[in-house]
Amino acid sequence: MQQIFLIVLTGKQMVKAFFSLLTIAVLNGQVMAQDKVFSVSVNKPVAPVQPTMWGVFFEDINFGADGGLYAELVKNRSFEFTNPLMGWKVEQTPVEEGSMLIQNRADKNTANPRYARVTVNNRSRGSFTLTNEGFRGMGLKKGLRYDFSALYKMVSGTVKLYVELLDAKGNIIGSVHVLPDAQNKTWKKITADFTASATEEKGAMRLAFEGNGVIDLDMISLFPGDTWKNRPGGMRADMVQMLADMKPGFIRFPGGCIVEGYDLSQRYQWKKTVGPVEERQLLINRWNFEFAHRPAPDYFQTFGLGFFEYFQLCADIGAEPLPILNCGMACQFNSAEVMPLDQLQPYVQDALDLIEFANGAVTTRWGKLRADMGHPEPFHLKMLGVGNENWGPQYLERFKIFQQALKEKYPDIKLIASSGTAPDGERFDFLNKGLRAANADFIDEHYYRPPQFFFSNVNRYDSYPREGAKVFAGEYASHVPKTNGPEKNNWLAALSEAAFLTGLERNAAVVQMASYAPLFAHYDGWQWAPDLIWVNNLEVVGTPGYYVQKLFSLNKGTAVVPVSRDGKIIDGRDSLYATAVIDEKTKEIIVKIVNALPDAQNITLNFTGVKKLASTAEHTLLQSEDLSRVNTIQSPRAIAPQESVLKISGKKSKIVLRGYSFNVIRIKYS
Ligand code: AHR
Repeated sequence: MQQIFLIVLTGKQMVKAFFSLLTIAVLNGQVMAQDKVFSVSVNKPVAPVQPTMWGVFFEDINFGADGGLYAELVKNRSFEFTNPLMGWKVEQTPVEEGSMLIQNRADKNTANPRYARVTVNNRSRGSFTLTNEGFRGMGLKKGLRYDFSALYKMVSGTVKLYVELLDAKGNIIGSVHVLPDAQNKTWKKITADFTASATEEKGAMRLAFEGNGVIDLDMISLFPGDTWKNRPGGMRADMVQMLADMKPGFIRFPGGCIVEGYDLSQRYQWKKTVGPVEERQLLINRWNFEFAHRPAPDYFQTFGLGFFEYFQLCADIGAEPLPILNCGMACQFNSAEVMPLDQLQPYVQDALDLIEFANGAVTTRWGKLRADMGHPEPFHLKMLGVGNENWGPQYLERFKIFQQALKEKYPDIKLIASSGTAPDGERFDFLNKGLRAANADFIDEHYYRPPQFFFSNVNRYDSYPREGAKVFAGEYASHVPKTNGPEKNNWLAALSEAAFLTGLERNAAVVQMASYAPLFAHYDGWQWAPDLIWVNNLEVVGTPGYYVQKLFSLNKGTAVVPVSRDGKIIDGRDSLYATAVIDEKTKEIIVKIVNALPDAQNITLNFTGVKKLASTAEHTLLQSEDLSRVNTIQSPRAIAPQESVLKISGKKSKIVLRGYSFNVIRIKYS
């Protein structure tokens, strides 16, 4: 009866409906009656769980890369934004002490044409200054080393530079001076490091000039000393750590819509993101202007975080790389430009060259570039996405051209195909059919839907064919109506995702990869919500949904085993959802159960097909009575896993599932 109720209400006011459902269930006396028995058949594995099952989807959206994961603190470091001085403040009192002009050398350098020419006319430390505001401020930490660098050449005279860190009130909280070589007439890097004396979330960096002379400056940069693996010019370690902690099976990059571009000229081109950072050509980020209600005029892609760095990140944290490339189609919600079929070859060549960049011998053109960048060993690329959220016959025909060329040269590389923007409807059906007929390896399905979709679609994959194309649940997130920004990542959203993921895990024979989207958002710079992880300039907050993903990933096991109640799968009856796996390496049984009712439910777990169980089990609980609860900077672990120990008697265990809870139970067996 409850199931029928759910189906009838699909598409209505979801949150209201959810609460009404719970009330009806309680009135019907369906809860707390007596123990419900869940039987786990340990010796009957039904499908392997792929190591890639739970991964992450990365896109430079919401200041995810520039201003986020990429730890560069200076915004518009090479003056290439549309407005070359965006992010910079030039102050000069009195006026005659200095001046600055933006110069353009596009004839000599197309990738990085602009630089600043600063003329200084003072004897002592002057009042001609250049201040960078950072990305919604700069996060500075007391006692931490900061690495300043710039490219410079002296045009004439002598100029000394004071590099100063400022707090939000303009007080100096760290400084160092550098003396560029007066004889240097070619672009050369100058560096200095120094320590911040205070912590500040909304800091800035000021350059104060002294002397008499003219200096050209470019790539003015500041990095914290605590980047991931202490790599110079690297990534924010706290953000990477959140990913590493999930032990993701794969990382999909670089998006998302940024792969497609508003038009083809703004598509993501991986070749422009590798090699020396000063030669990577800046591009406007499509999320700069995509949503009129949330414009971000200072959002650009410097590509300091480029394909080499993404591959390196994957290698660092043991995730399979999953790059997605443009297939000759721009975003169909924007310009919808397509590259004519007879001109598609350069796009296909980019894909072939990417495989060579990732896996090729160091003697090949692109393999050599990888080696020159510091990674002679191959990155072991095994899969590649062709297009993002493209649809229609124009996609199918382009996909087939890529498929033919890629499979001919690299038959073992698995190709991921788009099924459009939605998990149903005519466009989806057309591609699902066409791609299966074309023997696509994986079909990428996306669902951004309200919680009720996730609760009631837990059976989505039960009827999918076991043969042929596998599913990559490439982008999903539960969108709670009438919430905004970080509030959208509330417990209701996460609980509904947990319920849905039991259905993915149960169907691991079909769904072999899954990733929530988008991954990161900056509290002061987001365009899209919900997001898995929220950050400000100093801190990182995992949402309740983050912990759901993490628990699935850390408890993925190696094979699915049946778990049933009264001989039926546990897929929403009495608002209970369950799945079970075994880990054949560690000899553990892992049961995951969602209780989507407000009241506690008594369960007996009954294990069959096993000789012996340990006398205790680990119980990890994610729970809140309040479905609207979120994690915040002030309370980052309001909803976070809590550990306890369960007793096992023989082959049974009793567990009380708290209201609105997600439970992971891990038991050793022999
Ligand atoms: O995840 C945010 C956006 O949603 C992605 O860029 C796009 O693929 C989807 O529409």
